[in-house]
Amino acid sequence: MRRIVLLAPNGQVGFELQRSLAPLGLLFCLSRADVDFSDIATTSARVLALQPDVIVNAAAWTAVDKAETEQDAAYLLNAALPGALAAIAQQRNGWLVHYSTDYVYPGTGEQPWREDDATAPLSVYGASKLAGDLAIRQSGVRHLIFRTSWVYAARGNNFMKTMLKLAAQRESLNVVADQFGAPTSARLIANVTAFALQQVLNAPPAENGEGGNDKSGVYHLAAAGATNWYQFAGAIFGLARQAGLPLALQPDQFNPITTAQFPTPAQRPANSRLDLSKLEQTFGLTLPDWHSQLKLTFDEYYSAMSGL
Ligand SMILES: NC(=O)c1ccc[n+]([C@@H]2O[C@H](COP(=O)([O-])OP(=O)(O)OC[C@H]3O[C@@H](n4cnc5c(N)ncnc54)[C@H](OP(=O)(O)O)[C@@H]3O)[C@@H](O)[C@H]2O)c1
Repeated sequence: MRRIVLLAPNGQVGFELQRSLAPLGLLFCLSRADVDFSDIATTSARVLALQPDVIVNAAAWTAVDKAETEQDAAYLLNAALPGALAAIAQQRNGWLVHYSTDYVYPGTGEQPWREDDATAPLSVYGASKLAGDLAIRQSGVRHLIFRTSWVYAARGNNFMKTMLKLAAQRESLNVVADQFGAPTSARLIANVTAFALQQVLNAPPAENGEGGNDKSGVYHLAAAGATNWYQFAGAIFGLARQAGLPLALQPDQFNPITTAQFPTPAQRPANSRLDLSKLEQTFGLTLPDWHSQLKLTFDEYYSAMSGL
């Protein structure tokens, strides 16, 4: 039976992957409780000992602002770790699945980014993630790198939960309205990952014995459509009100602001729109609109919170 090793099963995406990868083979999980992934040598030894056919790396340094001052730590997790995992997957003649980000692009213009557009990260986080992508590609390993955006889930730390907490506590709130992208649920990312992975693993062997290899590459994986953080927050509050959640936030005190009015240590791209056509065409998928995924994720969060 195929052996799959999942790193970081307790992150937003990692948790959902436990569910969606389970039917694809024998799933082994490695978390911080097993090994500190910034110890690359020990992590590599633990992964190799599990004799993986597929490695799925959901681990990352995701503290975007903190990465500006803790560069070495961010590069260890986001660049050195994927490079080491690529070497193991290559040695095992297997596949590596990895996640990357819209932050590798410069955020200029209004057109959705395509996978072959020039990268130019604005932040240490973005640069460290790009270094991870390059390490994987240069290793020659068969890989699926999914660049995603604005990840949220019913669990973990994310924008949806932060907004709900703030709206419950505060009467007024300002949210940035000049950064555009697609909120993407961790559940969608995990489901699409399993679907794509299943296709490459089960591809009939080509004449050269390398079935599925032609699908190895970088893909954008996000919900369809685009919005800004202010509108995203508005949609979250709409669902909360419909569900009868008590919000302190006064509708007339919920204000759009500019990025310049909300300075952060790390610069964020203004345009995070991702062109999804490569993923859709290669794997025969249709990515759903972000609204429908938000409703599903909100409902899951609300059910858990209210004990339904
Ligand atoms: N979040 C976003 O908005 C976003 C946007 C675009 C792309 N992405 C990419 O999507 C992928 C998944 O992100 P996510 O939102 O699921 O991230 P997340 O919730 O922050 O999960 C990251 C996981 O990595 C683990 N981890 C970090 N450092 C570790 C260490 N030294 N040792 C062991 N485990 C460690 C964390 O463990 P602990 O829980 O124990 O800390 C956590 O389980 C990442 O590659 C990220 O770069 C995310």
